[in-house]
Amino acid sequence: MLRSCRGEPVDRPPVWLMRQAGRYLPEYRKVREGVSFMDMCKDVDRAVEVSLQPLDLLGTEAVIFFSDIFTPIPGMDVEIDFAPGPIVADPIRTAAQVEALRQPDLQSAVPFVFEILKTLRSEIDSRSIPLLGFAGAPFTLAAYLVEGQGSKNFSFLKNMMICEPEIMRLLLDKLTEMTVSYLNAQIDAGAQVVQLFDTWAGILGRDDYREWVLPYHKKIASQLNREQAPLILYVNNAAHVMEEIFSVESDVVSLDWRMNIDEAVRCAKGRVSLQGNLDPCSLAATPECIREMVQSIAAEAEPARGHVLNLGHGCLPETPVEGVRAFIEAAKGL
Ligand code: CP3
Repeated sequence: MLRSCRGEPVDRPPVWLMRQAGRYLPEYRKVREGVSFMDMCKDVDRAVEVSLQPLDLLGTEAVIFFSDIFTPIPGMDVEIDFAPGPIVADPIRTAAQVEALRQPDLQSAVPFVFEILKTLRSEIDSRSIPLLGFAGAPFTLAAYLVEGQGSKNFSFLKNMMICEPEIMRLLLDKLTEMTVSYLNAQIDAGAQVVQLFDTWAGILGRDDYREWVLPYHKKIASQLNREQAPLILYVNNAAHVMEEIFSVESDVVSLDWRMNIDEAVRCAKGRVSLQGNLDPCSLAATPECIREMVQSIAAEAEPARGHVLNLGHGCLPETPVEGVRAFIEAAKGL
């Protein structure tokens, strides 16, 4: 996994799945029974247990620690809950609210995150499985903070961009600073790769993307301790800004299933590895069919300097476990 991220020679691409620890697994649902999602993120034993489930039950080749992109947000003095997606009690819409956001003291705000990472590292080191950390990108975090929850049109967010750009800029600056500290602290606690998730940046057209997303990705990429942990950049639904995504020069670009691998190989110009990109819904297919899709993705990604097999977005609650198993077996059979 680490060699693939850095573009060093490997026998075959490694495999893991975004959202591999989640509700599609009966064993996850069992541990989650009677506990809220947020409490589970804070419960080191439970979080460690579900992080390891995909490794032990399915044989994934990376472990991502169990948490959410919103975990550090209460440390900025924002009240949130999950139902099941994040809900912000008091959506951030004014200059005063943005100014009031604090940079969290991460060690006291989310001590459990670092404890989970340290524990996981000691559990998996002997098995030569790398540990992944992650964070939400500023635009996606801002999208939920301003809307108050997920949204179809993101009108409040776009309104702020258009009518009060300086408030939006301050919000993104503050989230960028927090994200850099958060990811570097995860690396200090043992994360060996970090992935930045920008789930909603694809709602922007290219000019807006260049203004409201790209500079923040570049800033994060330049301030992370990448000697110690390569950076994977994931932007969902963003085939129209592929050049911009690759211009960040992260170590890996994680492609969604709408992105053409050929085109990604061209954009990467041998400088960046690729991750992806099976449509999560394809895991409902037969094992033979999944094997063919995996072979075709791997063949297309072959000319890239490195490839990590993954989905184009996270596992869904309705994803069949058998499909996940077939996906991993197909990857290991390459
Ligand atoms: O990949 C992993 O296995 C690690 C854990 C992880 C979770 N969320 C656990 C989770 C990761 C990496 C995330 C990232 C995340 N969270 C993103 C970015 C990636 C993406 O999927 O686009 C976003 C946008 C969120 C915000 C979020 N958290 C939503 C929209 C939801 C609800 C909808 C859903 O897909 O479940 C959550 C809750 C959440 N985060 C759950 C899990 C396992 C479900 C909680 C439960 O058990 O009820």
